[in-house]
Amino acid sequence: MSVALARIIELPRLEDERGALSLIEAEAHVPFEIRRLYWLYGVPASASRGAHAHRELEQVVIALAGGLSIVLDDGSARRTFELSRPDHGLYVPPRLWRELYAFLPGTVCLVAASEVYREADYIRDYAAFTREVTAA
Ligand code: TYD
Repeated sequence: MSVALARIIELPRLEDERGALSLIEAEAHVPFEIRRLYWLYGVPASASRGAHAHRELEQVVIALAGGLSIVLDDGSARRTFELSRPDHGLYVPPRLWRELYAFLPGTVCLVAASEVYREADYIRDYAAFTREVTAA
């Protein structure tokens, strides 16, 4: 898997004098069927999250409020994304190492995932990750 396949998805933004509305609809806005939602909040500015790869799971990460940085790593190249718009989702394909950091105060980060939680899908050791991706 290459970090080149990660991308920002521009979600609909319906805005008028009452404010804005964005959405994700099945089969329209993300390239997989959503099977789980989870969200990160109350993350201290000094903390980082993630530090793992998934074997099969794909996800879209959205900063619903605030902002954060995400670095993606495919074992040979890295890309960093800054998320701070509730109408932008970062598509993260499987088999990429990711770290989420530099959370602004008040950040709420929504993750839409293609699988339910399954620890066996995680690679939590970076050396094991590089071994798995270079063996593939
Ligand atoms: P962790 O993988 O450390 O979160 P992150 O990758 O965002 O830093 O998960 C924290 C804990 O929550 C860990 O015990 C696993 C558990 N967890 C679930 O039970 N279900 C879930 O959907 C997720 C994402 C985590």
